[in-house]
Amino acid sequence: EKGEYRHYMQKEIFEQPAAIQKTLEERIDSPETLINAFGEKAPAIFDQVKTVQIVACGTSYHAGMVARYWLEDIAGIPCQVEVASEFRYRNHVVPEGTLFVTISQSGETADTLAALRDTASPNYVGRLAICNVDSSSLVRESELVFLTKAGPEIGVASTKAFTTQLTGLLILVLALGRRKGLADSEIEKVLAELRQLPNLIEQASALDKPIESLSEAFVEKHHTLFLGRGVQYPVALEGALKLKEISYIHAEAYPAGELKHGPLALVDSEMPVVAVAPNDELLEKLKSNLQEVRARGGELFVFADKNAHVKESEGVRVLNMPAVPETIAPIVYTVPLQLLSYHVAVLRGTDVDQPRNLAKSVTVE
Ligand code: M6R
Repeated sequence: EKGEYRHYMQKEIFEQPAAIQKTLEERIDSPETLINAFGEKAPAIFDQVKTVQIVACGTSYHAGMVARYWLEDIAGIPCQVEVASEFRYRNHVVPEGTLFVTISQSGETADTLAALRDTASPNYVGRLAICNVDSSSLVRESELVFLTKAGPEIGVASTKAFTTQLTGLLILVLALGRRKGLADSEIEKVLAELRQLPNLIEQASALDKPIESLSEAFVEKHHTLFLGRGVQYPVALEGALKLKEISYIHAEAYPAGELKHGPLALVDSEMPVVAVAPNDELLEKLKSNLQEVRARGGELFVFADKNAHVKESEGVRVLNMPAVPETIAPIVYTVPLQLLSYHVAVLRGTDVDQPRNLAKSVTVE
């Protein structure tokens, strides 16, 4: 079933353009029809939403973190995101008009399900599951559902599930935003970007070979630091999670502005630093963060927009990404980080699809 691929994870990375295409199909024809993707009850519920609470685990939690930036920036809707195992065990205040959103590939993750089952407060106006499995418990127990169309994901490391979740979340942001007065012209702009997404993911996947050769620089290392700013911070977190999960190299992600507040002390020639640098308003700030790393002898690997003019120099490797519209950039920049962790793991000879100690679906606490 893996066909020409060595591992399921590799196959699933390359399936992303098709998986995203499927997730978009019949859903993004026009601003008016976006809401149909969430079920019949969506119009009545969305009208009552004042704030959003997202709950998820692992990679799905990272998708929620990206969605928070989008919700507040594009739709002006306040949003909180929390890992399910924390959320369910603390007393939290539920603001009036809260939409409760779970994100899960499997729809069977124990903590996420338990958090959903504990939403009795009348301040919740609805429960929405963003999920890849139609027949799952999460879908059955939620009144609103957005199904991602990633198809079965076999590799324990989540790849196409994540990028299709992000796709669904961006559709959610637009659909909710529209009820709150987001102009159709603004929505059309993002829809046009979404239509380019499969193609841009394809272009990013074409970096496979250069990333494979770059991965050799990581094989003997014990630690890696991932940096991003703004909406790319959760992308950096996801890159670090992928690397630790399948290559067993310790990896951490930081918002680049936090470097000086501690982690810079770790940086030396033994600590490769990976940065995601799209051509956004934070680029200049990121570039100065990268200089701080370089000044401490840290070897840098930068995935940068080809128009960002990040220069290669000694100790600085630059991989040019296609020019990507800002809103969808986190989805596209995820791909090279998936490829990087994949190739590092292959070189280290780990069990890529079935990493030690992990299960695909965490159905117990
Ligand atoms: O099925 P779910 O999306 O609820 O799973 C959540 C996490 O267990 C999952 O994303 C995990 O972090 C992945 N193995 C990461 O690659």
